Amino acid sequence: MKKRPINARRGLLAAIALLVPCLLPAALSAEEPGANQPAKPTVDYWQPDWMVRELWGPGHMPRGMMVRLLRHTTFMQYGVGARYEGKTSTVPKTAETIAAGGRIFAENCASCHGPKGQGNGEAAFALSPSPALLAYMIQRPISVDEYLLWTISEGGKQFDTKMPAFKDKLSEDDIWRVVAFMRAGFPDTAEAAPKP
Ligand code: HEC
Repeated sequence: MKKRPINARRGLLAAIALLVPCLLPAALSAEEPGANQPAKPTVDYWQPDWMVRELWGPGHMPRGMMVRLLRHTTFMQYGVGARYEGKTSTVPKTAETIAAGGRIFAENCASCHGPKGQGNGEAAFALSPSPALLAYMIQRPISVDEYLLWTISEGGKQFDTKMPAFKDKLSEDDIWRVVAFMRAGFPDTAEAAPKP
């Protein structure tokens, strides 16, 4: 009978199988997310190899579009950071809430995003990337509470955009009021509602 040679490939696979469980926990705990921000990726956002390979790189896509994708992929891959994770709206969905949200939106958001969230406020045309079309994005599945709270609180500094951070300007309840107003479809309640 012919003697079988030692199966070197099988040996290598066994070694890898033994190593992976040892290395995995170290890799996973390498970076703890900060309190306010999602964990910082260790890659250069703008020029990682895969962006170029996947035709996301500069030259392939307008910067404004890249920035939007960057916000969305940061959320998908790194979450919103401990400060916002799992948070949900704390205000009742009443006509008063929506009207108050309308006033806050008119004062703080409409100049860029437009009174109806169409991205056409008077300041919008000077901005690149342009202000988001909130009227549409608010209806998409990405518009969950923690995403909106994180985005509105922290703004676009980390993505180099002109979206302001509102965490020191608006209370969390006021941000939830704006969210309620947007979800209600940007109704014309702002003028009619009594001031608090
Ligand atoms: C100075 C102009 C400006 C003002 C004022 C402003 N925004 Fe923005 N906003 C932007 C720009 C520009 C973007 C797109 C870039 C980005 O996502 O950071 C944006 C993006 C957003 C997004 C993310 C949209 C998406 O596609 O994920 C949300 C949500 C948002 N703004 C809500 C608000 C709300 C609510 C207010 C008021 C409390 C507000 N913004 C005030 C300029 C502004």
